[in-house]
Amino acid sequence: MLNTYLELNSGYAIPAVGFGTWQSEPEKTAAAVQKAIECGFRHIDTASLYHNEKEVGEGIAAALKTTGLRREDIFVTTKVWNTERGYGRTLRSFEQSLKALNFDYIDLFLIHWPAVPSQYECWKELNLETWRALEKLVDDGLVKSIGVSNFMPRHLEPLLDRCRIMPAVNQIEFHPGWTQDECVQWCRERGMLIEAWSPLANGDALKSPELAAMAEKYGCSISQLVLNWVASQGVIPLSKSVTAARIEENSHSFDFVISDEDLAAISALDSVAGKRRNPDLVLY
Ligand SMILES: NC(=O)c1ccc[n+]([C@@H]2O[C@H](COP(=O)([O-])OP(=O)(O)OC[C@H]3O[C@@H](n4cnc5c(N)ncnc54)[C@H](OP(=O)(O)O)[C@@H]3O)[C@@H](O)[C@H]2O)c1
Repeated sequence: MLNTYLELNSGYAIPAVGFGTWQSEPEKTAAAVQKAIECGFRHIDTASLYHNEKEVGEGIAAALKTTGLRREDIFVTTKVWNTERGYGRTLRSFEQSLKALNFDYIDLFLIHWPAVPSQYECWKELNLETWRALEKLVDDGLVKSIGVSNFMPRHLEPLLDRCRIMPAVNQIEFHPGWTQDECVQWCRERGMLIEAWSPLANGDALKSPELAAMAEKYGCSISQLVLNWVASQGVIPLSKSVTAARIEENSHSFDFVISDEDLAAISALDSVAGKRRNPDLVLY
């Protein structure tokens, strides 16, 4: 699965499994990213909000040396933060991200959260202006694919009406207990891939007795069971860890098959909390 690629509507391929870096302390990030690539991850997710883009870039550069891989073998995503929405600000934020990462292009650039009606009267226009900046970055060859994060159909509809380039992905919270089926289905019908943020429910999944029992049955860890289940849904898991042994463990999540019955049982599980964030109430 670490070698599996999915096709984006932009024409580019995206690795079906990714590695996250939210809450990765800058001093631990470069080593974690390097380890992830050495373990076979080819897809790294960061954001300007995480304040670790520089270290993500350093980790990738170090891994290219130890593995002999090239920059184009690694798929890198970053995101524009909520305070930087709008055409000019987004372009400036991107420039800073590119500089911090020390790259000359980004594979995937996302709008981190939608502007929402409860916060901005002109939320539709603000999302569209931000999107126009992303489209320009594609035109300029600085970004290969563009997408959104935490957009529900109600946020996407007005954007899709007026965008020139379709979003390639929607990165949303997705884990046992929070599968956002309606949004997933809606996006898929319009050609967008779904990426799972907090696939382990930010650690909450690891406390689930139901998942522990099932993991024992498969002779794997809970983390491996859950990452396998996410990928089995055709959703791209972005697991995060700064712990070398866990990164290695997570990289071995895909070499067993979960029965259809158990996949359905995990999908139906409601006891794993996670953040369950409603984008309309996430105000920054
Ligand atoms: N777009 C968005 O709004 C958004 C929001 C949240 C997250 N994200 C992205 O999604 C990524 C994943 O979300 P997340 O950071 O909440 O991650 P997660 O993968 O759901 O959970 C990470 C937590 O699980 C622990 N962990 C990981 N593997 C483990 C294992 N094998 N055994 C035991 N514990 C394990 C980690 O600990 P250690 O690190 O201490 O090892 C960390 O505490 C983020 O890093 C970020 O890239 C995006």
